[in-house]
Amino acid sequence: MEPLLFYRHMSIHAAIEEKGRSALNQIEVSSDLEALDAVRVSVLGKKGSLSEALKQLGQVPPEERPKLGALANEWKAKIETAIEARKEILAAAQIEADLIRTRVDVTLPSRKIHLGSLHPITRTIRKVSDTLGRLGFDVTTGPEVETDFMNFEAVNIPKDHPARDMQDTFFLGPGVVLRSQTSPVQMRTMREKKWPVRILCPGAVYRCDSDATHSPMFHQIEGLWVDKKVSMSDLKGVLDFFAKELFGSHVKIRLRPSYFPFVEPGAEVDVSCALCAGRNPHCQVCKGTGWLEILGAGMVHPRLFELAGYDPSEISGFAFGMGVERIAMLLHDIPDLRLMFQGDQRFLKQF
Ligand code: DAH
Repeated sequence: MEPLLFYRHMSIHAAIEEKGRSALNQIEVSSDLEALDAVRVSVLGKKGSLSEALKQLGQVPPEERPKLGALANEWKAKIETAIEARKEILAAAQIEADLIRTRVDVTLPSRKIHLGSLHPITRTIRKVSDTLGRLGFDVTTGPEVETDFMNFEAVNIPKDHPARDMQDTFFLGPGVVLRSQTSPVQMRTMREKKWPVRILCPGAVYRCDSDATHSPMFHQIEGLWVDKKVSMSDLKGVLDFFAKELFGSHVKIRLRPSYFPFVEPGAEVDVSCALCAGRNPHCQVCKGTGWLEILGAGMVHPRLFELAGYDPSEISGFAFGMGVERIAMLLHDIPDLRLMFQGDQRFLKQF
């Protein structure tokens, strides 16, 4: 028999056994799946040690070959089984290690969640809506981009009417304005549905005006109640309830005759000063007058009913409109209107 090229000092038998045992050893000590696979390739791969040993089979006498072939297969199977077993152990260890590495300590305090708060304007709109909602007022809305007709003519402010000057309007185009008041929603609502009507309309309004007490965008809430036999005393009852709910049961209201084109008669409505009730001539809130103006109101002008397609002889109604910022300032003692539009966290956090 010629000396072996590859395993010069051992018989092929011994070489297979030696390679097999060494492989089992390596498998046993492989520390991760990658290392284990490297062992597999180095032993069972095309150029692996066991395969190389088998290639020498051609050099042994034919009668020896089946025995050696069987031995090689036996080792191959042993090694494969050992690899599978090791693989299971390593995979489990890997999972275990991953779990430890990514473990979350659920007892740690959580990161602080910063919840926002409601803007005083939103709070005030909700408070007014909730309060009057208990008297059956439904909240409705209308467009902020309004027709000149709806903003003015439809609520009885004709083209040449001086009241137009009271409301410096932003014109967007011919016949189109940014609404300067929520009153057009009265007309929109009445044109859309038959009476009885009992609605509130909160929303933004725009006027070309800006200083310490005026903002070019501010908010109003419009109220409208139309039904058979609605009277001025209903209006007073609603407003009295409203003022007491908002500012405290000790406040009173007072109506002063005033003029708004969409009502007749019209009134400006004051609440008694919740702070001094008129007893402090130097009161910061009411400036010593004892009264604070909160809204405009009146009995719906018959002209509006006609324009809406209602029969003024059948029904009557009252309307009111208030500035939300003004109410918010009174409710929360806010000294400057501009604070509401600056988005300063130190201010907003207080609500
Ligand atoms: N629209 C008026 C304004 O912007 C407020 C107002 C006054 C509304 C009297 C009304 C009302 O509905 O009856 O100044």
